[in-house]
Amino acid sequence: MSVESHSDPQALLAQLVAQIGAAQDEAALRAIEREALDKGGVVARLLAAVPSLPRAERPAAGRAANELKRGLETALATARERLREAALAAERSAAGFDPTLPAPRPRRGSLHPVVAVQRELEDLFISMGYVVLDGPEVELDWYNFEALNIPADHPARDMTDTFVCRELVAGQRLVLRTHTSPVQVRAMERLEPPFRAIAPGKVFRQETTDASHEHTFHQMEGLVVGQDVSVGHLVGAMKTLLRGIFGRELDIRLRPGYFPFVEPGFELDARCPFCSQGCSVCKRSTWIELLPCGMVHPNVLRAGGIDPERWTAFAFGLGLSRLVMLRYRVDDIRHLLAGDLRFLEQFA
Ligand code: DAH
Repeated sequence: MSVESHSDPQALLAQLVAQIGAAQDEAALRAIEREALDKGGVVARLLAAVPSLPRAERPAAGRAANELKRGLETALATARERLREAALAAERSAAGFDPTLPAPRPRRGSLHPVVAVQRELEDLFISMGYVVLDGPEVELDWYNFEALNIPADHPARDMTDTFVCRELVAGQRLVLRTHTSPVQVRAMERLEPPFRAIAPGKVFRQETTDASHEHTFHQMEGLVVGQDVSVGHLVGAMKTLLRGIFGRELDIRLRPGYFPFVEPGFELDARCPFCSQGCSVCKRSTWIELLPCGMVHPNVLRAGGIDPERWTAFAFGLGLSRLVMLRYRVDDIRHLLAGDLRFLEQFA
């Protein structure tokens, strides 16, 4: 490139623009740029020469040098854009690229069926004035057992049924909670009666797993504390719950059930929503066992700091995992937490 020989900046610009237009790659552009625009390049030299010109020529010479600079910059930018587009076009026309194919779609997630049912029930209970509570999954022995009136020799307290942590905390055993019931006592400590609360969450048991037993599953605890709360209120609340779940009125029955933290305690059965004469879901009995519940034992109220002479309460322990299985006809509880997308995608 013979840029030195030009004294006329306009002619020089025309020559360089032509070279830029003909450049085939970035290296060629960069070479021109270096010689014309970099420190010590043509433009810099033209500008440096201005002060030594006769006074009258200086403005025009300065302007010409700046015009040269701007003209080159524009030409270089245009050329670089041209090279970029050419590269893209080359890539697009390379073998194997089919621009008519639809773009890959991002994979869309969906709610886990347990979460979906949990949220639905939370909405239902919130509409009835309940608050939704959370409790720790690693729980003190006190809350999981002792405060719930579960005696030391109860089978659930055996190490073979419960996951127990090796460390003690303040001299107490820590366990993976075996049910959501400990949240009852935590709620009593926190909330001023009267109140209504539910506490959904994971629970853990040391089980030999099979289609209906899993070491981790979901429950939803309910607790209503008030003045003169009775079994009648309990039955009313459970009927509303069942109506919410199954979308219609189901007959129910109460059978006595023993849980140390309620007195009286019940197993609440609902008429099988899937048949009238017995099916595999209700094991031919036409009843499904769904809701253990009862009137909260005075010892439990006392453990939670509530005076059993002033307040009464009912509680229930809905088997959330079991309910999800019933609702969607899932035949093996292990599907729920296996994380297999072939299972989960069916709920999308
Ligand atoms: N916590 C019990 C369990 O996991 C279920 C239960 C029974 C909860 C009766 C309650 C209740 O609140 O009143 O087996």
